[in-house]
Amino acid sequence: DKGNRRHFMEKEIHEQPEVISHTLAHYLDFTSDSSKPLDLPFDFAKLDRIAISACGTAYLSGLIGKYWFERLARLPVDIDIASEFRYREMPISKDSAAFFISQSGETADTLASLRYCRSAGVPIGAIVNVRESTIARESDVVLPTLAGPEIGVASTKAFTCQLSVLASLAVRAGVARGTISREQEKALVHQLSEAPRFATQVLKLEEQIEKLARDLSRYHHVLYLGRDTNFPLAMEGALKLKEISYIHAEGYAAGELKHGPIALIDENMPVIVIAPHDRIFEKTVSNMQEVAARGGKIILITDKKGAALASVKTMETIVLPDVPEIIAPLIYALPIQMLAYFTAVFMGTDVDQPRNLAKSVTVE
Ligand code: F6R
Repeated sequence: DKGNRRHFMEKEIHEQPEVISHTLAHYLDFTSDSSKPLDLPFDFAKLDRIAISACGTAYLSGLIGKYWFERLARLPVDIDIASEFRYREMPISKDSAAFFISQSGETADTLASLRYCRSAGVPIGAIVNVRESTIARESDVVLPTLAGPEIGVASTKAFTCQLSVLASLAVRAGVARGTISREQEKALVHQLSEAPRFATQVLKLEEQIEKLARDLSRYHHVLYLGRDTNFPLAMEGALKLKEISYIHAEGYAAGELKHGPIALIDENMPVIVIAPHDRIFEKTVSNMQEVAARGGKIILITDKKGAALASVKTMETIVLPDVPEIIAPLIYALPIQMLAYFTAVFMGTDVDQPRNLAKSVTVE
């Protein structure tokens, strides 16, 4: 049931404040602002690394998770696309644990990667939305995303719930490994608790984003740029746009611009820059200046401070609330989902059932 929405995707985008809140509450205790103890088949303090494997959007959530685990828990993460991981013959450290991220819990390549790690004898955690799935059954611990059923083929709420689980786990790992203090844990958990409220605010930007989507739907190619956790988000934005609007899009690390993609820049290639005012904002500004100098049209997704300091002419600037760094990926996911959604609506595509795609990819 779509309720009063035109598409499941639209409905699922709007469910995010609620499902993020449910998912976070499963892992975090907001009365004491602490991460809840988990019954894990390993001890975070004893691991020397973790492996994460997944496909598509789930893979991109894992890539953001890598930044968090490494930063907060000083725990190195090997992350792979499951279809590569399963054939790569990666040596698995005995002191590691492996995580598999999947909305459906049935993705063939992710399952094969899980079985590879199983045969290597490492503990296995599954971050899944469907608890009765094969991946959940074959893992040692299930770390659920509480997104509820996701019907639209393009993943939206499952993605932000995967991020919610990964952020909570990274905090837990940091506590276990002594890399974050009790004070830092309190602050991080409190910041995470604010994600649903900020998400609600961002959903109100619908009108601006819909108008922008009308312009975007006239282009054939779009480039997304971001640094740090905004780099996986740039790839997620490009994936979302191409899969439902069929507009060609690429997501790049902003620092890679000058190593190739800058050759593509002209007035026919809008560049969507995801850049909250964070520690490396200045670096992204210089990338924007390079784009602007070549006649590129910039769509900047940032916050108030970022908008004030960007010092480039943009085609459009989407200003999000100032949010703590830990929740930025969850909040910045929303405008890129909304932009892809409205662009697809203007293109007249079948938003919930894009051509050639299946919700659950149970073949290789
Ligand atoms: C993109 C999308 C896909 C899935 C991928 C993995 O919007 O939905 O890229 O993320 O097929 O699916 P799951 O998470 O079910 O393993």
